[in-house]
Amino acid sequence: MTPATYSYLQQIDNEPETTRLALVRRIMAEDTLGFFSELRAKRPILVLAECTLVALYDDVIEMLNMPNVFTAALYIPKMGNGYLMMHDDDALHYREKSIMQGLLNRDDLPKVRKMVAGIAASILKDAGGKIDAVAGYCRLVPATIVRDYFGLIGMDRKDLMEWSHWAQVDTFYNQPFDIVTPEERKQITDSHNAASEQLGKYLGALILTKALATKLEFLAEPLRKLWRLIVRPKPDAMPDDIVTRMMRTSFPAEVGFDLKRVAVNAGGLLIGTIETTGQAAVQAIQYLLQRPDLLAMAKNAAGLDDPSQFDAIVWEALRFVPISPYMFRQTASEYTIAKGTDRQTTIPPATNVLALTQSAMFDEKAFADPTEFRAGRNWYHYFTFGYGAHECLGKYVGMVMIPEIVRQILLQPSLAANGDIVYDGHMPKSYELTWRN
Ligand code: HEM
Repeated sequence: MTPATYSYLQQIDNEPETTRLALVRRIMAEDTLGFFSELRAKRPILVLAECTLVALYDDVIEMLNMPNVFTAALYIPKMGNGYLMMHDDDALHYREKSIMQGLLNRDDLPKVRKMVAGIAASILKDAGGKIDAVAGYCRLVPATIVRDYFGLIGMDRKDLMEWSHWAQVDTFYNQPFDIVTPEERKQITDSHNAASEQLGKYLGALILTKALATKLEFLAEPLRKLWRLIVRPKPDAMPDDIVTRMMRTSFPAEVGFDLKRVAVNAGGLLIGTIETTGQAAVQAIQYLLQRPDLLAMAKNAAGLDDPSQFDAIVWEALRFVPISPYMFRQTASEYTIAKGTDRQTTIPPATNVLALTQSAMFDEKAFADPTEFRAGRNWYHYFTFGYGAHECLGKYVGMVMIPEIVRQILLQPSLAANGDIVYDGHMPKSYELTWRN
């Protein structure tokens, strides 16, 4: 049923409180845009026992602009290593995010796009006209970038994908407002913990190896001399990747970016990259393949030298099929949102709040005629990479990776899907594509 014929809100209000969240989640999954449209029109701030949903563009912006009020506390139990993402407006977050932003030099992007194009084209060439576009392509390309550009070398890409997967599922889809049985919760957390343990050991070894090639300060002087004598490391001959850049950069102790923080941030690069890019790319591919008019437009743009038209089509597709329809926060203190409007709501401390970013992208305040697909909309109103203090660190890398992955596969002749994307919970599991080889 659509909101035009029946009110989802009536249904929700009539539901007993104990099962109301489950109903909301079901409606949100089955008719995301219809539900959001009704919320924006009739109840833009929906209060449930487990969480509060915020549907309008202005209110989502208001929330995400106040990291110490609407905090990332729900990330804390998932990130024992103190990664910057679980920190709000504090010294560590400010320091580490800016260091990493500098090292992920935006001047690299043309090179990164070429790398992505080469990796993607070679995977497709070897595939011989048939591929599982999830594990075999959309996740494999970013895993290769994690290895070759970020510098997480020495592991099978399957392991990198597995580690990223469990961190992503546990952090984003195993929260108090997710409908997960206690057994599933435990299984997800156990898998994440096992993955973190393996990742931690791997990162320790990686940083040690790279330290031996780049830094000698941590060795005692006689050992240092011996090492120089035997290895004669030549900085210019070192590979240029992000972990190596981190290792070659020396910070005074007062800055607080020691080898442990290097390892934590190297792990963040891995975890942030694979599942996000993979999901975005595969959902954009399916969205276009299912719409012949858009597919024709995208294929046409895919052949142009300037990728901007093609990229704009992908960004607009991701408004309809984002990796998640919301971002979540927890209030640190009482806060009255949308003050002075008739929707003004006082939110108590320790409330989980879902900023419905996909709803915000269908608010007329953000975009005119929001239900129409129009490539080339105002980039600054998209929430694809988040917003505010926690906006994605990998945004610019993602901005070349996602469209190039989509572009390379759309360039294959007679590309067709053998069914829809198969999901395992929230995450894409498989999507079989064929083309004329
Ligand atoms: C390319 C590699 C990527 C890396 C290294 C990365 C890393 C990160 C990090 C570290 C954050 C937290 C920033 C902070 O708390 O200040 C973040 C946030 C975010 N990222 Fe990424 N990311 C990547 C790709 C992507 C992609 C492809 C997408 C979406 C298609 C994405 C969507 C997001 C979103 C929505 C947030 C905001 C989360 C929030 O506000 O709670 N990321 N990313």
